[in-house]
Amino acid sequence: MESAEIRRRWLRFFEERGHAVVPSASLIADDPTLLLVPAGMVPFKPYFLGEVKPKWSRATSVQKCVRTPDIEEVGKTTRHGTFFQMCGNFSFGDYFKEGAIAYAWELLTSSVEEGGFGLDPERLWVTVYQDDDEAEQIWRDKIGVPAERIQRLGKKDNYWSMGVPGPCGPCSEINYDRGPEFGVEGGPAVNDERYVEIWNLVFMQYERGAGTSKEDFEILGELPAKNIDTGLGLERLAMILQGVQNMYETDTLRVVIDKATELTGVRYGAKHESDVSLRVVADHMRTSVMLIGDGVVPGNEGRGYVLRRILRRAIRNMRLLGATEPVVAALVDTVIKIMAQQYPELETDRRRIETVALAEEAAFLKTLRSGTNILDTAVTETKAAGGRVLSGDKAFQLHDTYGFPLDLTLEMAAEQGLSVDEDGFRRLMKEQRDRAKADALAKKTGHADLSVYREVADRAGATDFIGYTDNSAEAEIVGLLVEGVSVPAAQEGDEVEVVLDRTPFYAEGGGQIGDTGRIRFDNGAVVEVRDVQKPVPGVFVHKGAVQVGEVTLGSRGHAQIDVSRRQSIARAHSATHLTHQALRDALGPTAAQAGSENQPGRFRFDFGSPTAVPTAVLGDVEQKINEVLARDLDVTAEVLPIDEAKRQGAIAEFGEKYGDQVRVVTIGDFSKELCGGTHVHNTAQLGLVKLLGESSIGSGVRRVEALVGTDAYRFLAREHVVVSQLTELVKGRPEELPERISGLLGKLKDAEKEIERFRAEKVLAAAGELARSPEEVNGVALVAARVPDGTAADDLRRLVLDVRGRLGSRASVVAAFSVANGRPLTVIATSEAARERGIKAGELVRTAAKTLGGGGGGKDDVAQGGGQNPAAVDEAIGAVRRLVAERAV
Ligand code: ALA
Repeated sequence: MESAEIRRRWLRFFEERGHAVVPSASLIADDPTLLLVPAGMVPFKPYFLGEVKPKWSRATSVQKCVRTPDIEEVGKTTRHGTFFQMCGNFSFGDYFKEGAIAYAWELLTSSVEEGGFGLDPERLWVTVYQDDDEAEQIWRDKIGVPAERIQRLGKKDNYWSMGVPGPCGPCSEINYDRGPEFGVEGGPAVNDERYVEIWNLVFMQYERGAGTSKEDFEILGELPAKNIDTGLGLERLAMILQGVQNMYETDTLRVVIDKATELTGVRYGAKHESDVSLRVVADHMRTSVMLIGDGVVPGNEGRGYVLRRILRRAIRNMRLLGATEPVVAALVDTVIKIMAQQYPELETDRRRIETVALAEEAAFLKTLRSGTNILDTAVTETKAAGGRVLSGDKAFQLHDTYGFPLDLTLEMAAEQGLSVDEDGFRRLMKEQRDRAKADALAKKTGHADLSVYREVADRAGATDFIGYTDNSAEAEIVGLLVEGVSVPAAQEGDEVEVVLDRTPFYAEGGGQIGDTGRIRFDNGAVVEVRDVQKPVPGVFVHKGAVQVGEVTLGSRGHAQIDVSRRQSIARAHSATHLTHQALRDALGPTAAQAGSENQPGRFRFDFGSPTAVPTAVLGDVEQKINEVLARDLDVTAEVLPIDEAKRQGAIAEFGEKYGDQVRVVTIGDFSKELCGGTHVHNTAQLGLVKLLGESSIGSGVRRVEALVGTDAYRFLAREHVVVSQLTELVKGRPEELPERISGLLGKLKDAEKEIERFRAEKVLAAAGELARSPEEVNGVALVAARVPDGTAADDLRRLVLDVRGRLGSRASVVAAFSVANGRPLTVIATSEAARERGIKAGELVRTAAKTLGGGGGGKDDVAQGGGQNPAAVDEAIGAVRRLVAERAV
C-alpha cells in the first residue's frame, strides 16, 4: 500500500467517525518552546491545556514532523528518520481510553477491502503504563488481546509528554511483530527492533511541570478534561505494509536512494557503510526539502542550523559515496516529485526551494574546499605526535575561520580515527560569546553589571515614556550614576547617567537609535544628552555630561530632545517599514526582517533571502516605495491585544518576544507592523527614499542600505556631479558611459595578458637553464633552485612542471623556491619514476615548509607550500636534498 493511500485511509476512517479533518500545520511551530513540530498534537496543545476552546470535540490529521535528537542513528537502524508523518486522532474531552483503543484496533485489523490496514491481530502486541489497570483491562476484556501479549512498562516508555512543561499522560503503544528474522522473542519489552512500535495512544489528562529528563518531572495537576492524543508513524506502517526491511526502502524514500545510486554509481546493498550513506542522503534530502518548503532558510542558529546541518550531512554523504559534482539539484527534484503527491505546494514553490538548497550547496562546497586541507593537516600532525584527540583549538579555528560546524569536524576526524576535544571547543566558543556579549553591553551601557539599574527600577519604578506625543517634559531625577555607581550629586564636567521619572527621549530599541538633547534644571544646571539606552526593561538611562552647574538626585528640570534629529530618524524608521513591505511583496514572506538600524536620514534593513536580489528587482522595490510616499498615506499607531494585531495581519519580527498588548504602526493600506518606534505622521514627509544597494551579511541574510529625505536628495545630486565629470573625461554622453568604460577596461585586460605572457616566457627561459645541469642524488636527477624574488606560486608551478618535462622519463625531482612579498614559497614536482621509488612531492614539501617555518601539502606528483622565514631557503633546499637521498636508496 502506497504512503499516499495510507494517509487517505487514515483520514477517511476517522472522518467517517465524526472527526474534523485538519490539514498539517507548518513544520515551524507556533510555539516558543519548540524549534520544529515534533508531534501531531502540537497544533492542538492549547485545546488540551484548556487555553482555547476547541472548535470540534474530535479531530484527525497527518502532521509533518521533524525530530533530530537521534540524527546519528539515521541510516544505521531500520526506523530512525528526521522527517516523518504522524497520523493522529484526537479527542478533546470526548471519548477516552476505551474509544481510542477500540478505534485503533478496528483500523489496524479490519481488512483492506473494508477500508482498514489488514494487519494480522496475532502479530500485534501492546504495552501499557505500569499502573494503568484500566487500559490493560480494556485491551484484554473488551478487545480480546491475550494477556501474554500485553506488557507493562515504566515511565520512560509509557508516559508521554513533550519533554517540557505542558500536557502529558500515561500511554499505550501498539507494536507489530516483524518475525524471528528480526531477533529474539519476548515482546516489545525485550526487543523493539523486532516488535516495532507503530502507534502510540496517549491518555492526555495531566499537566507536567519543569523537570530534568523524560522521567523526572512533577505533575502539576489535572487538565480541564480527559483527552486523547495518538500518533501512528506513517513511515513505519508503510514499512510493514510494503514488506520492506526498513523505512528508507518505503516508496517515498526509495526513489531518493535510487537517484543517489544513479548519481554515484554505488549500488544499494553492496556494502554496509555505503548503504548507511545512501539512507542518510534519502532521509536528509527529504527533510531538507520539507523544511525549506515551510520557509526555513539555512543559518547558524535555531531552525536555520537544523536545516544547515541536515542538508550538509546529505551533501557530505554523497561525497563519501564518490560524488564530485553538485548533486542537490537532482536530489531535490526527485524529492519534490514524490512528495508533491501529498504536498502539492512543493511543486508551486519549486523555484524557491531549489534556489535555497542550491545556494547552500555552493556555500558548503566552498567551505569544504578550504577547511578540508586544514583539517587533514591537523589530523596528520596529531597522529604524528602520537595523539588520538584533535585539539579544541583546532576545532574552534575550523569553526571560526572556515565555517566548519562542530559535527562536521567530529565526523571527518572520526573517519580518520580521531576524536575531538569537544569540551575544549565549547569552552572556546563560550569565551568568544561571553566576550562579544560583554563588549556589546559595555558599549551600550558602559557597565556590564546591571544590578545598579535594577535597584533604580525597584526604588523608582519604570520610566514614563511620553515621547510618542511630546518632545519635551518637566521631569525629576530618580537615578544618578557616575562611572556606574549611584551618586547623590554630580558636578560640571562629570560624565553621568541620568534616570528621570518621565521622559520624551526615545531609548535605543527596535532598530531605532536613541534621542539626543538637553536637560535644563531649575537650579541652572544643564546636562547634554548624547545617547539613551534601556539596560533593563523600563529604565531609560540618559547618557551625557553635566555642562553647567551641579545636578542632584531629586533635581527637577525641563528635558528637551533634538527635534529635527528625531524627525530625521522618524523618516528613516517609516521608510524602513515601507521597504520591508515592498520587499515582501517582491520576494515573498521569506524576506522577513532580520534586523534594522534607523539613524538620522539613513537606515539599513536586513532580511532573509537565499540569493542576491537582482538589481532590477531592487529598482522596482525602490520605485514602489517612492510611489507610496506620493500617495500621502497617514501613519498611525495603536495599542491592541496581540491576537487582534495578528488577525489584522500585522507583521511581527520573528523571534521577538511580545507581551499581550502590542503597539501596531499602520501606514495607510500599505503596511502594518508591530513596532515601538517613533514615526512620521504622513508618508509625504519622507520626500524621497534612495536604496543604495544590497549585500550579503551572512548565509541567507541580505542587507539594503538607504537614504531618506534631504540625505537622499544630496546623494543623488552628488552622483549627478560625478557623472558629469566622467562624461567630461571620456567625452561621451551619460548613457554611453558604461560602454566606454568597459571598452577601456577591456584594453587594460589585454595589456595585462600581454605582460603575463612576457613573464611566462621569462620563466620558461629559466627552465631550459635549470634542466641542463641536474644534480645526481643516488640515481635521481634533482633540480633544487632559488629563482628570482617576486616569482609567484603559479609561475613556480609552471616552471617546475616544465623542467620536469624536459628531464624526460628518468627519476627526477624539481624543487623551485622563491620569496614573494617577504615570504618564502616552494613548489616541488616528482616524475613517475621517482614516485615509484617512494619519492613523493607532498612529503618533500612538508619537510621544506617546516624548515621555512610554515606548512603545505599536495599530491604525490606536485605539491606546494610556504613559510615565514625567507632566510631559511638554502636550509630548506638542503633538507629536500637529504630527503631525496634518503628515499632514493
Ligand atoms: N504525541 C504522541 C507521540 O508523539 C502521540 O508519540
